[in-house]
Amino acid sequence: MVVGRDAPTSADFPLDDLPGAGRMDLLARCVTAALLRSHGIRESVQVRLVLSDSFTVRFDGATLQGLHPDERSTAALVRATLDEREAAIGHIPVETSPGVSLVRMGLAETLAAAGGQVYRLHEDGQPAADCAPPANPTLVLSDHRSFRAEDAATLEDADARRLSLGPTVLHADHAIAVAHNWLDTDGFETY
Ligand SMILES: C[S@@+](CC[C@H](N)C(=O)[O-])C[C@H]1O[C@@H](n2cnc3c(N)ncnc32)[C@H](O)[C@@H]1O
Repeated sequence: MVVGRDAPTSADFPLDDLPGAGRMDLLARCVTAALLRSHGIRESVQVRLVLSDSFTVRFDGATLQGLHPDERSTAALVRATLDEREAAIGHIPVETSPGVSLVRMGLAETLAAAGGQVYRLHEDGQPAADCAPPANPTLVLSDHRSFRAEDAATLEDADARRLSLGPTVLHADHAIAVAHNWLDTDGFETY
């Protein structure tokens, strides 16, 4: 789950200025870092982009089609979901392409819907190397900026544990790659 603080909530952002569109370039890279292997999709992974605490776009690896490694086409998938936002009524998601859906939920509702132990990724957390990955964890990252105080409080309410991938602060998409390595190797144990 990636919390996009300044992310657009309507489809009127240009695909030729993704950094200017609430850092949609970074959010798109997070999606591909979480879902793509070298040749294929991580079918057991779901990505949720929380857009300005108003809407959440969900990518479900089990049914996803049409995800490519480039940022622009991924951002176009996000834009296409937002183009259907009036169809997202209440908390009922609207699927806009196979495996991509939009729901009118902010961080708190999205955390509740995701389930599993919640981890707030943070460089000052418990070292991942000291922590065996549980089944179906929910890993939550901020975008290019820190979590807002209210987001941090929401994560505390969800009993989020802080998990560190090392002392160096990474870009969110790079942190996702390291987190995958933690999960892929059963806590850096199995190669
Ligand atoms: C670019 S960082 C945020 C930088 C922000 N200016 C700050 O100081 O918090 C984006 C997110 O990636 C994750 N992240 C980056 N480095 C990490 C690390 N070493 N361990 C765990 N998570 C990390 C965190 O969720 C972080 O909020």
